Amino acid sequence: MRLKGKTILVTGGASGIGLATVERCLQEGAQVVLADLPGPAGGLRAQELDEHHPGRCLFLPCDVTSTDQVDQLIADTVAQFGSLDGVFNNAGIGGMNPADSYSDEAFLRVLDINLTGVFRVARAALRQMYQQRRGSIVNCASILGLFGQTMTAAYSTAKGGVVNLTRTLALEAATKGVRVNAVGPGYIDTPLLAALDANAREALIDLHPLGRLGRPEEVANAVVYLLSDEASFTTGALLMVDGGFTAGKS
Ligand SMILES: NC(=O)c1ccc[n+]([C@@H]2O[C@H](COP(=O)([O-])OP(=O)(O)OC[C@H]3O[C@@H](n4cnc5c(N)ncnc54)[C@H](O)[C@@H]3O)[C@@H](O)[C@H]2O)c1
Repeated sequence: MRLKGKTILVTGGASGIGLATVERCLQEGAQVVLADLPGPAGGLRAQELDEHHPGRCLFLPCDVTSTDQVDQLIADTVAQFGSLDGVFNNAGIGGMNPADSYSDEAFLRVLDINLTGVFRVARAALRQMYQQRRGSIVNCASILGLFGQTMTAAYSTAKGGVVNLTRTLALEAATKGVRVNAVGPGYIDTPLLAALDANAREALIDLHPLGRLGRPEEVANAVVYLLSDEASFTTGALLMVDGGFTAGKS
């Protein structure tokens, strides 16, 4: 049990990579707050999981674009479970549009969730973790944090920002007992990719030397490692979980 007794918060925990991470953290013995937008999905998922892990999975609604909601989320997590040992800063949306027709509103919306949302959650978590003098934050970046891709001006900008935000936060937190890292998923088979037709899906598969899309639990395994004490000398790192995508071209 690699996370036994730890309290872990997962944003965007009702679906995809976030949900898989909630499940893996529960299997590893943690108490887990599944945070997601208000609505039935998060509560239902948490209720199902709590039946298998009694008293250890709680849904708290939170929109990461709201500083007030994020600050309240951290306070409620600590009030419920007594501490905050780990955060998976995962909530995010996609967004495909050519740059020359991206509206300010659409561009800023992606940044507000995928980059500023990560900052808001990290800031509130760090305040708590600095008091405890322990904690681990894992931010969700992407292969598009390292590479550009047509139609992703906002998304790739946000994910590139997450990578460098992670490094800066890691440096600030290093002397205070807190580690900050990121994971960089390749294309993962989640609802985020649901809109793709068969041809687009095949094209994405071809980008990965391992010859398939990733599975949410494969990212979750990397997150669990970074959250756990096994990663005690790792901070400021970007751990790619991308089937070889960023290794180069063959
Ligand atoms: N699926 C992929 O191929 C892939 C690749 C690289 C990175 N990622 C990243 O992984 C993360 C999770 O993606 P996923 O594929 O599991 O997507 P998903 O759509 O299955 O899950 C995303 C979750 O985030 C929640 N969310 C969206 N906006 C929110 C907000 N404002 N506040 C709180 N929660 C919000 C959604 O409700 C949803 O439950 C994202 O950061 C995404 O950018 C995904």
